[in-house]
Amino acid sequence: MSPELLNGLLEGLHAAQQGLRALLHALGLAPEVHGQPGWPLAHRIAAEMLVVDAGHARRVLGSLACAGGALVLLAVALAWRRARWPLSALAITVLVLAPWPQDHLLLAPAVATSLHQSPTGFAAAGIVRGQAAYQQHCVRCHGTDGRGEGPDAPQLVQWPPNLNGALLWKRLEGELFWRVREGMHNRAGVPTMPGAGSALSDAQIWEVLDYLQAHAAGQMLRESGTWDRPVRLPAMAVQCRQGRARQSSGLVGQRVRVVVAGPGVQPVADDPRLVTLVAGTLPAGSDPECRPQADMHDVEQALALVLGIPAAELPGYQLIVDRTGWLRARGQPGKAAWSEDDLVCRSTTVPRAPPDGPVATTAAAQGDGLEALIRRMDAEPVRLTRGGFPH
Ligand code: HEC
Repeated sequence: MSPELLNGLLEGLHAAQQGLRALLHALGLAPEVHGQPGWPLAHRIAAEMLVVDAGHARRVLGSLACAGGALVLLAVALAWRRARWPLSALAITVLVLAPWPQDHLLLAPAVATSLHQSPTGFAAAGIVRGQAAYQQHCVRCHGTDGRGEGPDAPQLVQWPPNLNGALLWKRLEGELFWRVREGMHNRAGVPTMPGAGSALSDAQIWEVLDYLQAHAAGQMLRESGTWDRPVRLPAMAVQCRQGRARQSSGLVGQRVRVVVAGPGVQPVADDPRLVTLVAGTLPAGSDPECRPQADMHDVEQALALVLGIPAAELPGYQLIVDRTGWLRARGQPGKAAWSEDDLVCRSTTVPRAPPDGPVATTAAAQGDGLEALIRRMDAEPVRLTRGGFPH
């Protein structure tokens, strides 16, 4: 199945599932739980299986097509008396012959918060608060580096997982929230992880999950040199010339370059292709295009986490954020020019042909590494999925 078709199927199922929740909520059958409409059913669609098993995805698509066809046949049968019986028989045959998927692949057990979405917006300040909560409540088992080798880990029924790989992206965030809040147990019903619900508020749990994600992103970059999974720019209040935006989320739609200034770091000139957001310690008299308004310590700590470096090493780093808000490229201190190698979050799908036009021609004319990088970034968008669902 082509990636576009699979994405279409996942998006359709996601919308249907969200729509069902909204409908049940409107009917009073899905009351609010932890600030959002709860999921009242015992199962949800297992999008993660559709992503890993192409044969299963084809069967789901085939059955949806058959069910749609049968509905059309039945509608015609209702309207057209003379053909009613043959058409109804045909509709039933289509339904019987449809390649129905196995239900243990189609559905996964659900909890009340399965479809919940994090309300934090991945804010820098929340990530830093989440780090403090992690150090207080989670480190003894999960370890300072998140690999699951904390001092208490050897005594546990089960070894904690390494939280630095793709694990967090494979889960629905609402289910991670539930597990951290309520705790986990193994198949035999023996508790494996205690719930943090009595120690942490809902907001703190969402923040700890943001911290884990930022930290995992940084470790991924350190180990493999790439962000295998898309990561957002930590959100922060900003102040821009001409009052262009008050929040970094208000810059989505434009490309953004984040520059960390500091002693001995060459100032970076504005560039019409990107909005330049300068964090860190500014040289006297400079007037950058945008500047964080949030607590600079929080901003720097959050950036250091996603880069997988100590905050003291930040000055001189640059990051490029694409028009949909994903961190895509990293420039290391002391590097004179950008090149396509700095694109550390790449598309997993086949790239589209790079667009011709003004960008391409100026790139060729100028031999400019940044231009080539921007072109490639725009031509190869990335998408985030969580637990298989688009996000
Ligand atoms: C007493 C030890 C212990 C503490 C404290 C602890 N965990 Fe865990 N955690 C575990 C173990 C063990 C597992 C694996 C459980 C399993 O798979 O059944 C786990 C699993 C997880 C997972 C993976 C869930 C999944 O979907 O696979 C996450 C995320 C997590 N913990 C986050 C946290 C956070 C956040 C805290 C602090 C608020 C925390 N843990 C505190 C032991 C602990």
